[in-house]
Amino acid sequence: MSQLAYVELRVMSLSEWERFGRAIGVQCVRREAAPDSEMLLRIDERDYRFWLKEDRADSLGAVGWEVPSAEAYSGVVNRAREWGVEVEECDPSYAIERRYGRVARLRDPAGMPLEIGYAPIVGPARFERSRPISGFKADNLGLGHLFAYVPDIGEIEEFYKEVLGFRTSDYITWPEADIDAVFLRCNSRHHSVAFAESSSAAPRHLEHVMLETYEVDDLGLVLDALQSEKFSLGTSLGRHINDRMLSFYASTPSGFWLEYGCDAVSVEDNGSWEIKRYSNGHTWGHAMGVGLTPRLLSFG
Ligand SMILES: [Fe+2]
Repeated sequence: MSQLAYVELRVMSLSEWERFGRAIGVQCVRREAAPDSEMLLRIDERDYRFWLKEDRADSLGAVGWEVPSAEAYSGVVNRAREWGVEVEECDPSYAIERRYGRVARLRDPAGMPLEIGYAPIVGPARFERSRPISGFKADNLGLGHLFAYVPDIGEIEEFYKEVLGFRTSDYITWPEADIDAVFLRCNSRHHSVAFAESSSAAPRHLEHVMLETYEVDDLGLVLDALQSEKFSLGTSLGRHINDRMLSFYASTPSGFWLEYGCDAVSVEDNGSWEIKRYSNGHTWGHAMGVGLTPRLLSFG
């Protein structure tokens, strides 16, 4: 696996997402040749990183992962089938619509809908940020990361490592909240996905998506914009203990949270990385908002 490529979301209000998208600096593109109930969000030179489809309820449509070659693609498809997972290899028109040469669909052991693509189709249109931020640290590192609740993190960690080729970066256990989490990487981003198991949170739900910018001032500009546009913040600014990300959380129009951060570590696979188990998620900050908790987004 080389990167987290895209997320497809079913959302109740595209116009609220457009307002939110402008506040966080992404480019909102109403999709050409589609009913006006679809919108693409761009953060880099890729044609889209979020594909939003207006629907009667908010839900997670698909998580797109990119592999670097035909061999890597076949390897994932074969290992998933050996694991006992049903894999659908999509027809070429579907792959082209997704902007890939080839796409396969499957569900992970928690039921999260995944798409595996290779040979991305990249157009000439430059990314146009909608706010004067430095830009998003994406490109070959992918969109950012996802954090989701699942029924069994042991099983999911094994599947992501054995079938999809991820590596474990570390673990966090929050004893007071009864949450165990594993952080998994597929490139030098500390994690492209994290999974948590908890008796207090419904499994099979997306909790947050993270976007990373280059400069700390971007966080300030976007905090100002979100507050003046009356969007709810989930937490104050804080520093994560494991990926060292400086970030805050905002509530998206679909209820799940967006983590907006910068200054995270990068993990090089030269044997120097030591896997740790932390007993807290933060070195400071990330105070929860006034009674606000994320409305988890279902995928099960
Ligand atoms: Fe995060």
